[in-house]
Amino acid sequence: MVVDELRQANLAKDRFMRTVSHELRTPLNSVIGFSDVLLRGYAGELNEEQRRQVAMVRDAGEHLLAIVEQVLEVAGIESGEVPIEIASFDAVELVREVVEMLLPEAHRKGLDVAAETPSEQVLMLSDRTKVKQILMNLVGNAVKFCDRGGVTVELRAQADRIRFRVRDTGPGVREDIRHTLFEEFMQGSLPDGSRPDGVGLGLSIARRLADSLGGSVVLPETSERGSVFDLVLPRDWQHRA
Ligand SMILES: Nc1ncnc2c1ncn2[C@@H]1O[C@H](COP(=O)(O)OP(=O)(O)OP(=O)(O)O)[C@@H](O)[C@H]1O
Ligand SMILES: [Mg+2]
Repeated sequence: MVVDELRQANLAKDRFMRTVSHELRTPLNSVIGFSDVLLRGYAGELNEEQRRQVAMVRDAGEHLLAIVEQVLEVAGIESGEVPIEIASFDAVELVREVVEMLLPEAHRKGLDVAAETPSEQVLMLSDRTKVKQILMNLVGNAVKFCDRGGVTVELRAQADRIRFRVRDTGPGVREDIRHTLFEEFMQGSLPDGSRPDGVGLGLSIARRLADSLGGSVVLPETSERGSVFDLVLPRDWQHRA
């Protein structure tokens, strides 16, 4: 009875979040779109101060839009509305794809990103898009918060599980958020003390997605010499615990 009421309340909350998020998106896109038009000078030249202020409007709009989109996604995963699409794929190729996508940003920062994978295929049966999204979050974080050295993505196939290990040689997860970093909107600052891009939803989404695939995301190690994040997934989604 109580459980049922809780479930109803939860569904209502999700529906509410989705409606609000959706209704916020349209006007936000106008805010961003029209400030962009102003910045491009289509409505007349702006002086430097005007340009600076309109740019702040646009940046804040983009930040808010990112929050809204991620909240929508969280609500979708929670309510089971994001369908799981299971198919067979090569995990080695997936790792290479993720590394390739993040290489330009890493190189811009003078970091290297390397894949350490078996030389042969590692087939798994899971939702490729979701696995990729989790890895993009973990490797993206490693690149974002690392300021020296590099990042490695290691793939290890065990009997019925696959472990993706993302290692970086950055400053480690800030001590004050080590116990809460998987919670929503939990964010630490960058090595230089500034606020990072993003909204602090990446890890909570990664954990939810891993959960929906019968796996987990954990932080086995973090210190001032770097961090290790593990994504462990069942090799075959049908045999998840
Ligand atoms: N590899 C890492 N090294 C150091 N700190 C990290 C690392 N990964 C995550 N963190 C810390 O955990 C916080 C939460 O990470 P999360 O991915 O949820 O948010 P974010 O990256 O700040 O924003 P978003 O993912 O929404 O763009 C980060 O703000 C950062 O302080
Ligand atoms: Mg992140």
